[in-house]
Amino acid sequence: MFSSNLFAIATSLLLATLPSFSLAQTSDPCAIVAGKPIATFAEAKACLEYFPYNHTIATETIDIVRKITDDLYIFNEIAATPPKVEGLSIVPVNISKALDIIQKEPWKSDRAFQDAIALILDKVHDAHLVYSPHCYRQFIFWQPIQLNSLIRDGRQIVNVAYVKDDLWADAKKEWTDCEVTHIDDVNAMEMVVNYAVNNNGESKDVNTCLNNIMNSKDYFHGWDDGADDLGYHRFLPAQESHKYTLQCPKNGTKPEQADYDEPITVTIPWVAQIPTGFSDADTYWDSFCSVHTSALSKRGPLFEPTVQENHIGQAFDFSENSIGHTTRDYTEFLILDGEDSDVGLIDIQSFSVASEDKEAFVKNFTRGLQMFAEKNVKKIIFDFSGNGGGDACAGEFFINSFFSSTPDYYSDVKYSSLVDNMVQKAFDMKSTKWMDYKSNHTQDADWYTNPVTYKRGNTDVKFSQPVSLSCESWNSAFAGNNAFNTSRWNADDLLILSDGRCGSTCAIVVSRLRLIHNVPALGLGGIRGNRMQFASFPGGESERLSSFLMDLQSLDLLDDPKAPKPFPERADMGWTFREVYRPNLPDTKFGDEVNLLEYNNVAADCRMYYTDENASDPKKLLHEVAALVKSGQCPLVQNGGK
Ligand SMILES: *[C@@H]1O[C@H](CO)[C@@H](O)[C@H](O)[C@H]1NC(C)=O
Ligand SMILES: *[C@@H]1O[C@H](CO)[C@@H](O)[C@H](O)[C@H]1NC(C)=O
Ligand SMILES: *[C@@H]1O[C@H](CO)[C@@H](O)[C@H](O)[C@H]1NC(C)=O
Ligand SMILES: *[C@@H]1O[C@H](CO)[C@@H](O)[C@H](O)[C@H]1NC(C)=O
Ligand SMILES: *[C@@H]1O[C@H](CO)[C@@H](O)[C@H](O)[C@H]1NC(C)=O
Ligand SMILES: *[C@@H]1O[C@H](CO)[C@@H](O)[C@H](O)[C@H]1NC(C)=O
Ligand SMILES: *[C@@H]1O[C@H](CO)[C@@H](O)[C@H](O)[C@H]1NC(C)=O
Repeated sequence: MFSSNLFAIATSLLLATLPSFSLAQTSDPCAIVAGKPIATFAEAKACLEYFPYNHTIATETIDIVRKITDDLYIFNEIAATPPKVEGLSIVPVNISKALDIIQKEPWKSDRAFQDAIALILDKVHDAHLVYSPHCYRQFIFWQPIQLNSLIRDGRQIVNVAYVKDDLWADAKKEWTDCEVTHIDDVNAMEMVVNYAVNNNGESKDVNTCLNNIMNSKDYFHGWDDGADDLGYHRFLPAQESHKYTLQCPKNGTKPEQADYDEPITVTIPWVAQIPTGFSDADTYWDSFCSVHTSALSKRGPLFEPTVQENHIGQAFDFSENSIGHTTRDYTEFLILDGEDSDVGLIDIQSFSVASEDKEAFVKNFTRGLQMFAEKNVKKIIFDFSGNGGGDACAGEFFINSFFSSTPDYYSDVKYSSLVDNMVQKAFDMKSTKWMDYKSNHTQDADWYTNPVTYKRGNTDVKFSQPVSLSCESWNSAFAGNNAFNTSRWNADDLLILSDGRCGSTCAIVVSRLRLIHNVPALGLGGIRGNRMQFASFPGGESERLSSFLMDLQSLDLLDDPKAPKPFPERADMGWTFREVYRPNLPDTKFGDEVNLLEYNNVAADCRMYYTDENASDPKKLLHEVAALVKSGQCPLVQNGGK
């Protein structure tokens, strides 16, 4: 009796558990992709969408984002009712209202919710304003073909730059250099421009967004967040595949001969590269999503910045005649060869100079200039393409190396009672960056604690007094290294070269070089016939929640009721807190929103586009730029460029 009962229970257990056991296996889609190098779109999606929407997490997340944008994001109000600026694509975004809408939506998954937050901040087109859900940025999605845009046969076209044939067996190398006439049955140029406007948060200038989403593999250096390129996503793509119509040069002919095969249409899937470090949904969540908090581990993963800038590859390998080529790739001094051996190139990939590198950076910079002088360099190209900014004082150092006196630039910080407490504490405790700002008219914390009110859109908003940054530590490094006398080069011996992807500190540096010192600027790529900016997101300074929390912690203000909390899931957020005005403004214009650099179009003086001959040959491209600077073909254009 007893034993047969047990048997019955055992059988029913077995019957009950068997199906649900196999169900449990197939219902853990993360276990299916774990350990594989690549997976299909559907497999990757199933894992990313496995984690259910959690109302508690969503509400907490939204509260934090709202607090930061309301209190700390300097362009929050102007973004809701922005000015119309000719040549820029600025859509009004009322972030708070958008968050209300997101909060009411019944999201299918946590991923969908998290990506909605990221997307709404992207719409402001300020690359400093970002929400990065770490949990859903682990998979890398590739299109096996990568596109660029160039001028062929007098037309601007979308072109297959290269084929990534290590991801998808049906990819064919010979698609390289085929023109893409249509994507998903829409004219390819039109589709790509629409994508640049609507899906890329990089810049308010569509030319820059286009350069950012296209693959310029051979002219690719410096910084790229890579998250939202056309053929390379860090987030789940909107559809499983794309249809491309290709017009390919006949075998044995070059594209520029315009002798084509019949067009073909191919459907190309997204392929996911799978991260390591998990074996199923639980371990995925543990490794990438959950915040391991305890009172003691506050300084652990919680406060670590989770988003790293990508530094991929060195595009220019001129080997000889090169100085300062470092693994950190801040700056490189090169001299062109052949007829152009009197033209130097300073490739400035980043101003994010680590403090332990400052001295070597200054030394190398001076050495580079000396080398230019010894080799009789007459013209210098400053290549700022792909420079995502960094230390404002490194930028100041750069300008000071060429021009002896440059007026300070006007900037101010958004006022909030939380930061008021921070600034006061910073001066009491002699700690954090909040001590580093100086104002003409005030002392100590007064620059912040006596705010002024300006109109932004329809709203009155409080800001600090006008400030500039104190660069004393840089200036002393500069003085100690016998600054090189650069008076042999005048503004018209210099040229700013930029694909528009010169942001933050870089944008401020080039704007001042152009507007104060009259160094002409060449815009590279973009959409033909469109005026193009040579800089983007010139917000003066940005912050990340992870480092903001560290400042709060060192000022003993983590428990201030106004302080934002860390995100409930592993995520980080960045925002602009200092805004910059156009250089050379009279005092009276200060505070007026029409003078904000972020909402101005400072256009390049001349343009160059990629062609079949030079799109994949940076050396050739630079010789063409050199020819242009030597023949004076990029003169300053007053009141707007090309
Ligand atoms: C939602 O997340 C919170 C916080 O992590 C957790 O306590 C709660 O159990 C979750 N709710 C559901 C329904 O999973
Ligand atoms: C954003 O929209 C809300 C209504 O949802 C409104 O109260 C608020 O004033 C708007 N913000 C700005 C800066 O215009
Ligand atoms: C192109 O032509 C070459 C010989 O001229 C041949 O070897 C190659 O297989 C051809 N490629 C294709 C895709 O037909
Ligand atoms: C300076 O140049 C040297 C020699 O080229 C290089 O090894 C070093 O990394 C450079 N340092 C910096 C900070 O650029
Ligand atoms: C600070 O004072 C200097 C010299 O008096 C002046 O040129 C500059 O415009 C002032 N800056 C601000 C932000 O008021
Ligand atoms: C730099 O050199 C020029 C010309 O040789 C000279 O006039 C100028 O005074 C020098 N500047 C400095 C700061 O030494
Ligand atoms: C590429 O070459 C064409 C001529 O072949 C030239 O017109 C164009 O300006 C060049 N573009 C760049 C970026 O050098």
